[in-house]
Amino acid sequence: MAQVRGRFASRLGFLMAAAGSAVGLGNVWGFPSQTANNGGGAFVVMYLVLAFLLAWPALMAELVIGRHGQANIVTSMSLGRGITKRFGALAGWAGMLTASLILAFYAIVAGWLLGYTAAPVSEALGMSSAASWLTTFDFTRNVSLTAVFLALTMAIVVGGVRGGIEKWSTRLMPLLLMLLVGLIGYVLTLPGADEGLSVYLTPQWDRIFDADLMLSAMGQAFFSLSLGVGAMLIYGSYLGPEQNLPRLGVLVTLIDVGIAFLAGLLVIPAMYAARHLGVEIFDADGLLKSSDTLLFDTLPALFGQMGGAGDILMVAFFALMSVAGITSSISMLEVPVSFVVERGWLGRRAATLAVGAAIMAISLTIAANFGALFGLVIMLTTQYSQPLVALVMCLLVGWAMSRHALLKEIQSGAPDIESSLFWKIWPWYVRLICPLCIALVFAHSL
Ligand code: PFF
Repeated sequence: MAQVRGRFASRLGFLMAAAGSAVGLGNVWGFPSQTANNGGGAFVVMYLVLAFLLAWPALMAELVIGRHGQANIVTSMSLGRGITKRFGALAGWAGMLTASLILAFYAIVAGWLLGYTAAPVSEALGMSSAASWLTTFDFTRNVSLTAVFLALTMAIVVGGVRGGIEKWSTRLMPLLLMLLVGLIGYVLTLPGADEGLSVYLTPQWDRIFDADLMLSAMGQAFFSLSLGVGAMLIYGSYLGPEQNLPRLGVLVTLIDVGIAFLAGLLVIPAMYAARHLGVEIFDADGLLKSSDTLLFDTLPALFGQMGGAGDILMVAFFALMSVAGITSSISMLEVPVSFVVERGWLGRRAATLAVGAAIMAISLTIAANFGALFGLVIMLTTQYSQPLVALVMCLLVGWAMSRHALLKEIQSGAPDIESSLFWKIWPWYVRLICPLCIALVFAHSL
């Protein structure tokens, strides 16, 4: 039966948790590398536009479903009646599965990040073989570090909304910002960094309406705002009726976009500083090396050539990435855990353990078949499931919720909303424009 659900203690707590979910590897890694390869500042401009014109309205749909439902993803998405309701629930299951699969590969990458954070420390302690184990691709190392990262994630989630998620997000997000700003300040003084800065900030205007650029920017915006997997939905469900959802949604979007922008100020100048030291930063096609080479070869090569300061920088850089990763992973784990708890199957502790173990099993399977599965799982979840579930969420809010119910839901925390521009435009957005645009991304990925 209805049990007392957790709730964020403060608006700030929600903001830190939701921004923590949004700010992740997608910001500090995906965004800078996409920008570098998509016309520099032109991508930044298009990303900003799409984040506010498309991703924010879709984020609002997720938050509304969650706060309205006051329940886990499957229950909250069972909107409307009959077949609609069953379809919503099914999409909820799909979102939950997607969250679990994303967490399974995210934890592998985050495990590497932990390894790279610890390596310079073990080196300094004279444990060179440990340091090289930590940074060498190998099955045992991969799964051991994944297990460590998942255990950390579980340790936070087991504490619940206030005692775990909110508490740790409000500690870790300021730390992330400090590390980021500190690193930017340092990297921008390095020789060669100014060239990176101008590549990053100079828009190639002729590319701004490039179809590929727009689609990449849109996909990036959806992934970055954690849409379509129920992470934002579940955080929204821990909000009380007095909270102003449109305002909170704007703030989360602003923080997410702001941190992505800052990450670009760090990563791209750092790459050009590495180039200045003779590190090859372009691939065979003349594009900036992105994906894993950027993170695990180029930047460590830069740090490696800088002596003692390089070690400190490397620890700070990978700690930053790890922090960004963990505040995202807790939001993913919360999606299935809240479901298991609210179904009454298990208590929170047992649910966290059971779901964590199941996700570890998926990570193990991926790690054991790395070549075949890693890229495939990333592609299926981020390019297919995420946009598809986000699409269903928009449709549910746009068509299965009555205009009256929708207004009531938003009005409870924003009494003047009915006369606002937001209310005139947004319902049409979720009804038509967002679904259409998401369908476009989806069609493109097919
Ligand atoms: N928003 C995260 C990032 O940018 O790295 C990724 C993410 C987090 C996706 C949480 C999905 C999710 F549920």
